[in-house]
Amino acid sequence: MSALPKARGPLSTAVFEALRGLPQEDAPALDVSPESPEDAAITLWALYELSYRGFADVDDAAEWHPSLLGLRRRLETELERSLYERWPGVPPEYVGATGDTFAQGLFDYIADHDGASLARYVHSEADREQVLDLLRVRSVYHLKEADATTWVIPRLGVAPKAALLELQYDEYGVGDPNRLHAHLFAKGMEASGLRPEYGAYVDEAPTEILEQNNAMSLFGLHRRLRGAALGHLAAFEATSSLPSRRMAQGLERLGFPPEMIGYYAEHVEADAVHEQLAVRTICGSLIEDEPEVAGDVWFGAFTCLDLEDRTARRILDGWAAA
Ligand SMILES: [Fe+2]
Ligand SMILES: [Fe+2]
Repeated sequence: MSALPKARGPLSTAVFEALRGLPQEDAPALDVSPESPEDAAITLWALYELSYRGFADVDDAAEWHPSLLGLRRRLETELERSLYERWPGVPPEYVGATGDTFAQGLFDYIADHDGASLARYVHSEADREQVLDLLRVRSVYHLKEADATTWVIPRLGVAPKAALLELQYDEYGVGDPNRLHAHLFAKGMEASGLRPEYGAYVDEAPTEILEQNNAMSLFGLHRRLRGAALGHLAAFEATSSLPSRRMAQGLERLGFPPEMIGYYAEHVEADAVHEQLAVRTICGSLIEDEPEVAGDVWFGAFTCLDLEDRTARRILDGWAAA
């Protein structure tokens, strides 16, 4: 368990102080406004983290503290609003689509989204320091890979639930701790000379990485957004296999250890299966069960692609400027 991250503005400073003071300090004053998107994102990230592994310097009861929940609600409402603002809506030709039309439509939609690609850069151009930078900030997600989606399981009907469990069972190592994806990543970090502990590099994560993680928690923790959570999962899995191959080859080119290459190699095969499962079976059966959440599935898929695009641009611009 790691300690609270560094504050990034007046809101996170006030909230992290209040968190450290609990439970003695009963009603922390949290009427501070975020100074910047970064201040808001790190605060929300830390409040969400209370529902995952928590922090060594924060009382476990903080997770359900009413004033912290109130603040979390304000921050996540703002995040959700900003994500919807970017959403162009379900492509008209796929409104109401189900079955094969839906699945092929979603695959085409994902394939047509032409965003910036970190994997392509790592494949042929990145140097070792750049890849280490990338692994550190990606670790914020990969060290809790699949966890945000697990919140969705009890909220589903029979067919999407069974299919989601099939996918999650793989992510969690098919019963073998040494195959658990988050653990494979930790072993890759360690072998690459990086810190493998959960949350070790949150302080280095740019706003875009924090927002990617916050969006997954937002979708996972709100039953209302189950469609968005599974649409996000579908887009995530469907944009993983080929980029993972590029990452593995780039890491090989740069002489990274087999443990780190192995993490990405595992995803070449696994996610070729997962994308079919996520798009066709999980999302396909969800919208058959609950047609009213179909729009949210598309919204979740768009948000995944859009956030990754913004993250990639931020990181590539940072490298170009260096
Ligand atoms: Fe995975
Ligand atoms: Fe996967």
